[in-house]
Amino acid sequence: MSITFDKDRQLLTLETKNVTYQMQTDNYGFLHHVYFGRKVNGSDMSYTNVSYDRGFSGNPYDLRYNRAFSLDTMPQEYTSFGVGDFRVNALSVVNADGSYGADFRCVGHKVESGKYSIPGMPAVYDNGGEAETLIVTLMDQVTGLKVHLYYGVFEDKDIITRCVRIENSGRAVARLEKAASVCLDMPFGQWDLVHFHGRHCMERQMERSPLIHSIQTIASKRGMSSHHHNPFVILCDREANEDRGDCYGLMFMYSGNHKTEIEVDQLENTRVVMGIHDAQFLWNLRPGESFWAPEVILSFSPDGFTGLSHNYHNIIRHNVCRGKYKLQRRPVLINNWEATYFDFNEKKLLEIAKQSAELGVELFVLDDGWFGSRNSDLSGLGDWFVNTEKIKGGLQPLIEQVNALGMKFGLWIEPEMVNEDSNLYRAHPDWAFYQPNRAPSLARNQMVLDMSRADVRDYLYNCISALLRENHIEYIKWDMNRALSDVYSHSLAPERQGEVSHLYVLGVYDLMNRLTRDFPDVLFEGCAGGGGRFDPGILYYSPQIWCSDDTDPIERIKIQYGTSFGYPVSTMGAHVSASPNHQTGRTTPLETRAVVAMSGTFGYELDPSKLKKREKQEIRRQIEEFHKYYWLIQDGLFYRLTKEEPGRFFHAWQFVAQDGSESLVNVVITSPQPNSCLIHVRLKGLDPDAEYVIEGHSRRFTGSALMYGGYTFPLVSGDYPSMQVHFVRV
Ligand code: GLA
Repeated sequence: MSITFDKDRQLLTLETKNVTYQMQTDNYGFLHHVYFGRKVNGSDMSYTNVSYDRGFSGNPYDLRYNRAFSLDTMPQEYTSFGVGDFRVNALSVVNADGSYGADFRCVGHKVESGKYSIPGMPAVYDNGGEAETLIVTLMDQVTGLKVHLYYGVFEDKDIITRCVRIENSGRAVARLEKAASVCLDMPFGQWDLVHFHGRHCMERQMERSPLIHSIQTIASKRGMSSHHHNPFVILCDREANEDRGDCYGLMFMYSGNHKTEIEVDQLENTRVVMGIHDAQFLWNLRPGESFWAPEVILSFSPDGFTGLSHNYHNIIRHNVCRGKYKLQRRPVLINNWEATYFDFNEKKLLEIAKQSAELGVELFVLDDGWFGSRNSDLSGLGDWFVNTEKIKGGLQPLIEQVNALGMKFGLWIEPEMVNEDSNLYRAHPDWAFYQPNRAPSLARNQMVLDMSRADVRDYLYNCISALLRENHIEYIKWDMNRALSDVYSHSLAPERQGEVSHLYVLGVYDLMNRLTRDFPDVLFEGCAGGGGRFDPGILYYSPQIWCSDDTDPIERIKIQYGTSFGYPVSTMGAHVSASPNHQTGRTTPLETRAVVAMSGTFGYELDPSKLKKREKQEIRRQIEEFHKYYWLIQDGLFYRLTKEEPGRFFHAWQFVAQDGSESLVNVVITSPQPNSCLIHVRLKGLDPDAEYVIEGHSRRFTGSALMYGGYTFPLVSGDYPSMQVHFVRV
């Protein structure tokens, strides 16, 4: 039983392997947050919540003689604006009479076996007997508005999920101005905030800073989770590092606008509120209807960032990603984008396929430019019909020839977008977002389709499902190459325009759901100009996402490093590309490019006909190595051995088999030095008492020696060299 209720104390306790989470209802029905942290084995932690009269923090009417009781100071599970809690709130509701009042009191709870799901939205799932659900219901007596707080408890995985259903059981429409998924009060402690910011080609750069007395915001109003702020934050002890310290993670399972507010209040309490961004959000909740706020995946680890990352890797790999390829070996691919861009015909494509098949590549992916009038990014998006001038005979004959080489065939699509210069836009201009009487802003010459419309989704479903039915396509790269602006649905009334951004995301999920359900054998890879929509919502539909449009291995190390805090290696699309690199112009060795790309799903994105003989041999070797290490990399435990810091000249990371039987250590010199210092790392995750050898060598090392004394690598020189060392238990 991971959820228990102490009736006398009205105490609800959630317990996982290493964690306790506790809340309590008082005599007035207020739901207090009591504790979240290291396991306290059933202790009632409510003694820690002590309150005093604080000036300018008022009192609810029924507690007016108890001036120590204030919503403005007490830790809560969910809070609403307008009734005396002046901190960041989770909910803001405008009632039919124009008032903002919402006074939520607990009216009951229930426990269910299994994990709740959310209609039409991604949510962490239970593989059978893994989870329990707690639903606590709060109600505003005046309007009849109910808030159902959902908690999914994964005992063995140290994960608690949360989401909220807001139900209008009253008689009038309630307008939700803000409906966050989580409010997490942390009454004690001083915390650092870790988050992952960036830009196109430079996603998920880890940044750590102490919280100050302020409200800090990590957010996206771009209609996508964005390159700029990943919807994932960590709050950690000031002293926390990779191996030690309390770390709290909040990851938003949603792919659209998001906002995480972190407030340190007057009494040094920290509050985190995470949910859909309230910009252009106004949801009309009619009587009898419910609004579901998307899920947040919460985790706590006392074992530093590594412990927290392992919790997230485990849950994402096993309880977020789905489908045939979730745990199945995925093919090594070649993608033609950086090899040809838009300039190709079927002969050129076949030549790339033929040469890469000889190197051992297993999947050929045809990227942008195969459809409509798509010879540049000026036209064609929306017209999902093969361009037979470029690909004579159509797709199927090309696919047959690729298959005859022993390779699978994959295709790029960007369903959510339309070019002004396309047959689709000419036929249905009102299917695109633009505001009445205003020209829309364009990005990459494209507009965004109104995915809230069922007719738009049906058109896309019909096009894409026909492609998948009529052609032997075994992989789809689903791209999304601009942010949403001018969000306005021509099919909805003016008062419903505040619902469109969320309806857009629900529409995307609906289309993804239909296609992945109807074509279960296809491997889907997410993409949004690289990693602009790298979030657990997308991972629910596609087990891998193209991590970044930047394929420079030295830059990629930083991107994959940041990504690894929340997401497993098996989700990170990574390719070896040509050198000099197309994004940075940097020249790096082919070996180093592969070491970095192997710490992802692994593939190539270059023109093999331009390779020298030695390079081809090297690629053959790389693919063989990747096959050999496949499960160690994709299913092993991932350890960051170095961190981003000034003066660092190399980076190292390590994979350890779940049973400790082998380990692969990767080192890349990211800033070559003259008269270089030694490269020395302490390994992690090994069996301390076991003995290990480097494959092919006889010298034995104990696990404890490698972990506590470390390993010194030979000095290497040149431009950005790399090393991979494989330790095997004897
Ligand atoms: C995006 C993707 C690239 C490529 C191009 C094609 O930028 O991230 O990998 O598919 O679109 O236009």
